[in-house]
Amino acid sequence: MDMDSPWLRFCPRLRLLRLLRLYSLASDETLWTNICNSTWPSTDTPRIRHVISSFPKGPRSFFSDSVTNPDTISTTTTNSSTSSPVNPDRTSRLISAVDIYHQKRHVFSKVVETESFGNRSPFRVELLDPEDTVPARIPHPVDERMMLELGDRFTLSWILIDPIRRRAMNLSSYKPVIVERRWLPGEQVHMRYGWVFYSGPGKEGSATEYVKFGISVTWEECQCGVMHVTGVSLDLEDMYGNQMSGKESLAIIQKGMAGIRGSVKGREEEGRRRYE
Ligand SMILES: *[C@@H]1O[C@H](CO)[C@@H](O)[C@H](O)[C@H]1NC(C)=O
Ligand SMILES: *[C@@H]1O[C@H](CO)[C@@H](O)[C@H](O)[C@H]1NC(C)=O
Ligand SMILES: *[C@@H]1O[C@H](CO)[C@@H](O)[C@H](O)[C@H]1NC(C)=O
Repeated sequence: MDMDSPWLRFCPRLRLLRLLRLYSLASDETLWTNICNSTWPSTDTPRIRHVISSFPKGPRSFFSDSVTNPDTISTTTTNSSTSSPVNPDRTSRLISAVDIYHQKRHVFSKVVETESFGNRSPFRVELLDPEDTVPARIPHPVDERMMLELGDRFTLSWILIDPIRRRAMNLSSYKPVIVERRWLPGEQVHMRYGWVFYSGPGKEGSATEYVKFGISVTWEECQCGVMHVTGVSLDLEDMYGNQMSGKESLAIIQKGMAGIRGSVKGREEEGRRRYE
């Protein structure tokens, strides 16, 4: 109803109710924006806030999409012709919003928008240029005990956002599945986060029934004994560990985006509680 309609002018009570409704919608949006901002500090950029506000229910939809991984079972029962059809030519723009925490302290965040993935070349998203390094105020591990502790202390969130279809998905295992030292070139600590996605039965003998999203983080020691992030990247492997191409990967990602998310309600309440 138009605020200037004669009905409202003559009916203050209706007008008040309408104002209250507008107010509660706005404060709900602010609340969910704040919850998203505190859960994923990387989303605090004008571009991402704009994309999130275009989601069907704004920041609340973004939160629900991103707080659990797509449900691998209901993906297959989803009627893909009624939800978003999988069309690899349409979407080739994806935003990665990544946050790294060390013992709950935020130590790194980065947003990268990727427009082209190449049809045949392996799918890969690199967050940092080769010459970029980002310092974290964390001592470089000097012994095996410190190495072991790293695996418990570093958590990573990688949210992939499709700004055209207005969906998002969580790709990270949260804690690393591998932490290892590498010696060339120079000493590095390498962490790998992973998540296995059931993309549905393909053709007989298909190698992509299950695929693995892998996130690699490389740390190097600087002169002052603290760790620097020198590389953060995402790739996708088929069941035999082969790197998947850009085209194959986009088709899988679209399935994941369209997939139903499991038990979002409880996570929403938890998100609110953690924020408030
Ligand atoms: C998001 O959180 C950061 C740090 O807590 C704060 O500085 C920033 O103002 C917040 N942004 C919004 C839009 O609330
Ligand atoms: C993303 O999914 C992982 C694995 O299911 C989960 O542990 C993590 O909490 C999720 N991320 C967020 C921010 O909820
Ligand atoms: C999927 O949607 C199409 C078109 O709306 C419909 O014809 C078909 O019966 C649906 N399939 C299932 C399994 O619901």
